[in-house]
Amino acid sequence: MNIMDVIKARRSIRKYQELPVEREKIMECLEAARLAPSACNAQPWKYIVVDDKNLKDRLAKEAFSGIYIVSRFAAKAPVLLAVVSDPDWLPKAGGAIRKTDFHLIDIGISGEHLVLKATELELGTCWIGWFDEPKAKRALKIASPKKIEVMLALGYPDENSSFNHHERKPLEQMSCFNGWEDS
Ligand SMILES: Cc1cc2nc3c(=O)[nH]c(=O)nc-3n(C[C@H](O)[C@H](O)[C@H](O)COP(=O)(O)O)c2cc1C
Repeated sequence: MNIMDVIKARRSIRKYQELPVEREKIMECLEAARLAPSACNAQPWKYIVVDDKNLKDRLAKEAFSGIYIVSRFAAKAPVLLAVVSDPDWLPKAGGAIRKTDFHLIDIGISGEHLVLKATELELGTCWIGWFDEPKAKRALKIASPKKIEVMLALGYPDENSSFNHHERKPLEQMSCFNGWEDS
């Protein structure tokens, strides 16, 4: 698949087969995430891969409960990843001046590298921003100043995965040339 094929094939997958994901494939996905660009090359991410069923079940129970119950679909994914930020002082200082959280941009880019590599390997993913972060941290024994910015579900898509929410704004609405234009 060329890059555009992969981009077009990617969907958020919310139903997974009960198949484990091969460690080699997980490593390929992590390698794609590792190679992402980042402000000052800070690489401010750590991926905690949870493919141990007992731990994954415990994590899912903690992270996707109460008001976060809508994310419970991800409990069925054979792999959950917690993306923990580890910001460096230089982009943090620059980001404070610019009022931009560079480490969040970096994590987004790196995570999407992982997602696109997973798509190429015919794996399904879903970004999960809606989860109980303090409880997830406790389940993963993460010390308190660290933050899980986002989670990812990973696994082989179930054939009945629904492909909704994929509409996009048209090009002319999301871009303009040579200066701001209201759309
Ligand atoms: C940062 C981020 C957080 C997201 N959090 C969730 C989430 O908590 N639960 C969920 O079901 N989908 C989540 N999504 C997936 C989006 O809903 C999805 O990407 C969007 O609806 C477009 O659909 P598509 O990914 O199938 O193209 C998230 C996506 C991103 C990028």
